[in-house]
Amino acid sequence: MNTATHRWQVRAERPIEYDVIKAPTLFAPDNEALLGFGRRAGGRRFVVVDGNVARHHGAAIRRWFDRHGIEARIVVFPGGEEHKTIDIYQDLIRELDGFPIHRRDEPIIAIGGGVLTDVVAFVAATYRRGLPHIKVPTTLMGYIDAALGIKAGINFNNNKNRLGSFEPPQAVFLDKSFLPSLPHRHLLNGLCEIIKLAIACDATLFQWLEADGAESVAAYFNNAAGDAILDRAIGGMLEQLAPNLFELELSRKVDFGHTFSYGLEARYEHRLLHGEAVLLDILVSILIGERRGLLASRDAERVFALVQRLGIELDLDVVDAELMWHSLLDRIEHRNGLQRVPMPTALGQCTFLNDITRRELDHAVPALHARMRAHHESNRQR
Ligand SMILES: NC(=O)c1ccc[n+]([C@@H]2O[C@H](COP(=O)([O-])OP(=O)(O)OC[C@H]3O[C@@H](n4cnc5c(N)ncnc54)[C@H](O)[C@@H]3O)[C@@H](O)[C@H]2O)c1
Repeated sequence: MNTATHRWQVRAERPIEYDVIKAPTLFAPDNEALLGFGRRAGGRRFVVVDGNVARHHGAAIRRWFDRHGIEARIVVFPGGEEHKTIDIYQDLIRELDGFPIHRRDEPIIAIGGGVLTDVVAFVAATYRRGLPHIKVPTTLMGYIDAALGIKAGINFNNNKNRLGSFEPPQAVFLDKSFLPSLPHRHLLNGLCEIIKLAIACDATLFQWLEADGAESVAAYFNNAAGDAILDRAIGGMLEQLAPNLFELELSRKVDFGHTFSYGLEARYEHRLLHGEAVLLDILVSILIGERRGLLASRDAERVFALVQRLGIELDLDVVDAELMWHSLLDRIEHRNGLQRVPMPTALGQCTFLNDITRRELDHAVPALHARMRAHHESNRQR
C-alpha cells in the first residue's frame, strides 16, 4: 500500500484596486461620474439611501437615475447605530431577492453615513458570495473615514461590528454637498476622527485644525481651509489604510482612540456617537501618556485646548474605568493577545503600549473630569 502523503497547494491573489473620487454634486442632472461604473443601457441598480438623506436629497437622486435611463430600486434605510443590525441586513437581502440584478455589472450603490455603508458593504460581500458596490458617504464620518476602506459589518450580540468582512468597493464618491443637511453634532462627530488622525500621524493637520478648524466647521468645510483639511485627512487616512487593508499588521495608528471607546459605545449606543466615544478614549489615553511622561504636558494641553476651541461637547458621565478596562480586555482578543494601544509620544507621532494597567484607568477618570473642568473654567473667564 502506498502510504506517501500528498499535499496540494492552492495559491491565488485577488487584486484590489479602487478609486476614491472627489465628485462635487454627484447627483446634479448632468453629472456623469457614476455612469463610469456598470452597465448603462438597460441597466438596473439597487440603491440604498439613508432615511435622512432621502428626506433632503432623495428627489434629486431619483431624478438622476430617471434622467440617465437606469431602472433603480431605491430602498430607504434608517441611519443611526441602533440600525446596524442583523434584521436590517436581512431586510436588505430580501429586498435584493425581489429586484434581481446582474452579479458583475450592476453595482449596488450605498448612499449614507458610516452605518449604512458598513451594512450595505456587508450585504454586497455576502449576497451570492459577493456583488460589486459603490459607496457615497453623506456624513463627515463617512467622508473622511468609514467609506474609505474595505471594512464591512454589523453589530451583533451587543458587540460592535461582531459580524463583518473585508470587501473592497468598486469606487467611493466624495460629494461634500451632502454635508450641510447634516446635524451639527454629527459634523463634530466626524471631526473627532480627523483629530485622531492628526494626533496619531500628522502634526501639520493638527496645526491646521488649531488655525482653521472652527471656521471650517462653521462653513461645513465649504471653504478653502476646510477643503484643505479634508483632503489632508483623506490622504492621511488612505496612507495608513492602503498598505494594511486586511489588517495583517494589528498595531495600527488609526486604532488610536479605538480601545476604550469600543465598550463605551456598545453600552451607550443611544447616548454616544462613534466619534464622541473615540474622542473620550483619546483624552483618557493622553492623560495616561502624560502621567507616564511619554507625552509632554504642553502637547496634552494643546489637545484639550483644541477640543474646547472646536466646541465639541462630551458626556463625561459615561466614562467608567471598569467598562473601559473590559473594553481593553476585549481588544486584546481582537488584537491577537496584545493590547497594542496606540499612544502619542508627540503631536503627529505615536508608539504602541502593551502594559496599560487597571490602576492607570482608575487614575485617568477623575483626572479627565478635573482637566475638562479646568478648561471650561478658563474658557468662561476669557
Ligand atoms: N468601516 C470603517 O472602516 C468604519 C470607520 C469608521 C466608522 N465606521 C462606522 O461608522 C458608523 C458611524 O457612522 P456615522 O457617524 O456616519 O453614522 P450614521 O451612518 O448613523 O449617520 C449619522 C446620522 O446622520 C444621518 N445622516 C446621514 N447623512 C446625512 C445627511 N447628509 N444629512 C442629514 N442627515 C444625515 C443619519 O440618518 C444618521 O441619523 C459606526 O457604526 C462606525 O462603526 C466604520
